[in-house]
Amino acid sequence: MRCRNLEAIGRRQFLKGSALAVAGGAVTAARVDGSLAAERTEAPRGEVPVPTSKEAHGPRAEHGAGRLVYPVKRLANLEDLAVNGPLEISYPDAAVPGVLLKLGTKVERGVGPDGDVVGFVTLCPHKGYPLAFDDEERVLSCPGHYSRFDVEKGGQQIWGHATQNLPQYRLRVDAEGEIFAEGVDELVYGRLSNVL
Ligand code: FES
Repeated sequence: MRCRNLEAIGRRQFLKGSALAVAGGAVTAARVDGSLAAERTEAPRGEVPVPTSKEAHGPRAEHGAGRLVYPVKRLANLEDLAVNGPLEISYPDAAVPGVLLKLGTKVERGVGPDGDVVGFVTLCPHKGYPLAFDDEERVLSCPGHYSRFDVEKGGQQIWGHATQNLPQYRLRVDAEGEIFAEGVDELVYGRLSNVL
């Protein structure tokens, strides 16, 4: 008698479990169907949805031919610079500190009549510490973990933990000696896009 009761309880639980499994399957199927339907609506098979430039980079970003378009910003005049005297600036926006340097000798990507004016972001690419100019070694050096970047060679990293060269500004000098920044050649530390 006792065995028959246990048998009956077991049968009831089995039937209850089967019913739940069927219901669960129906829910899953509905969800899968719903997801597929949504996928079909948003991204037809074989197509990957591509965000517009404004979705990807915010309302102030503009793109031309697939490239980020930087703001053009006046940074200083040649007369404001002295050889080995760093001039603090910010670019591409106020949150990114940088420096203009007149090195006194023609260097890679140097601008101005002597080809000796360069500019760099001064956030270390490793963890964002502020860099300092060493006028004897001609490097920007990091107090955090001692990375060093050669300002005569386009910000090439020559020592330390960073895994990229220092972002260098694209500069232009006009006939009046005004120095303009028009871009940055590497990603600024902490950014997914240099232009927000
Ligand atoms: S923050 Fe500059 S080397 Fe680490």
